[in-house]
Amino acid sequence: MNKRENFGSRLALVLAMAGSAIGLGNIWRFPYLVGQNGGAAFVIIYIVSCFVLVLPIFMAESIIGRRTRLSTFGAIKKLAPGSPWKWIGLLTVITPLLILGYYSVVGGWSVDYLWKACTLRLTHNTAGLFPGFISSVWEPLIAFTIFLVATAVIILLGVKNGIEKFTKICMPALFVLIVGIVIYGLTLPGSMEGVIYLVKPDFSKIDAGVVAAAMGQAFFSMSLGMGAILTYASYAPENENILSSGVGTTLADLGFALLAGFAIMPAVFSAGIQPGEGPGLVFDTLPYIFSQMPSWIGAILGIVFFLTILMAALTSSISMLEVGVAYLQEEKGIGRVKGTIIITLIAWVLGIFCSLSFGPLAGVKIFGLSIFDCIDKLCSDWLLPLGGLLFTLFVGWYMSKADVRDEFTNHGTANVGVFSVIYFLMRYIAPVGIVVVFITNLVL
Ligand code: PFF
Repeated sequence: MNKRENFGSRLALVLAMAGSAIGLGNIWRFPYLVGQNGGAAFVIIYIVSCFVLVLPIFMAESIIGRRTRLSTFGAIKKLAPGSPWKWIGLLTVITPLLILGYYSVVGGWSVDYLWKACTLRLTHNTAGLFPGFISSVWEPLIAFTIFLVATAVIILLGVKNGIEKFTKICMPALFVLIVGIVIYGLTLPGSMEGVIYLVKPDFSKIDAGVVAAAMGQAFFSMSLGMGAILTYASYAPENENILSSGVGTTLADLGFALLAGFAIMPAVFSAGIQPGEGPGLVFDTLPYIFSQMPSWIGAILGIVFFLTILMAALTSSISMLEVGVAYLQEEKGIGRVKGTIIITLIAWVLGIFCSLSFGPLAGVKIFGLSIFDCIDKLCSDWLLPLGGLLFTLFVGWYMSKADVRDEFTNHGTANVGVFSVIYFLMRYIAPVGIVVVFITNLVL
């Protein structure tokens, strides 16, 4: 077995975790789900989910990862030898693969739009550009392949040289870029309506589907329920305070989602676009806005914006790939290069079907959904919350309280006061919350 690498510092760990969390989920998925699920009411449920469900599960994954210093499969086997709990490991190998496949398709859209911006194709009439693009065959496929290969290359460089260096540069840059876009968006005519849409809740819009979507988005956005955070926590420095990295990542991720909402919704309203239009929202709205500006400003902003999305997407996709590669490395003794190639190829085949489901395969429906929508919904509304439920049950009910406390408090030296609160959330509130949402979603 190869010698395990660790992140070089606390900052590197937090940035890598935040890099995994902040991604297309915040910039592409959150705004269109807000638009489809009624605006501010969805945002409120989302915020509550982040603290009541997500934070305890983040802690559960961190505790397992750091305690064992192994990726999911090995970690569970070590803590619960010979027990059926080992099947959690399997779930966390399958889910990241499924997500990596369709996530890379959207990553490819940002590669393509960056290219469009660089070649000045977003500076004039962009009406119909997005539908035409995703329904074509080759352009999205080539862009998707470039994105996936870029992800694989970063992973091949390893934890310290690849993930750590890349996220250290990208995350702060990302923040500056998105704040600039928010400020610009607020100056657009009619943008206030978008702000009101984000802050004034209409609670009549809430039903079981909205709650399930908000919860699923919270899991997706925080990279929970599939072992990504567990794997990163397994690389954590010995003295790391896992509560502060958890709270830090949650706040950064939430802040970023809200910033993305404020970057996009005002522009949506200003452009007279329907907020509920779905996955194309960001790719339709922003180019329209850029095309309305003097062309050199539109060109620069277009490049900046799609570069931002691309960086955010890469720091997330590398964490999905890392889960699978770490598994093959530790459990199957397969080297990093070979493991990366295997996982990338499987994700590539899956992604081809997802990409084509906007074009030639649009007629193929599973439970009434396209291949892309079906995998998206299966992962975020079901598999990720299920993974989260199993992690929190494992830590809350299977592991001994003494072990959980020892890991959470760094052997009694930190977070001693809040342990009982988090433990209570892990044992009761998070599991019950997830089960209730599952049941209501199934019944209604
Ligand atoms: N959290 C990422 C995002 O918001 O884009 C997506 C993601 C990354 C989901 C890693 C799951 C994961 F394991």
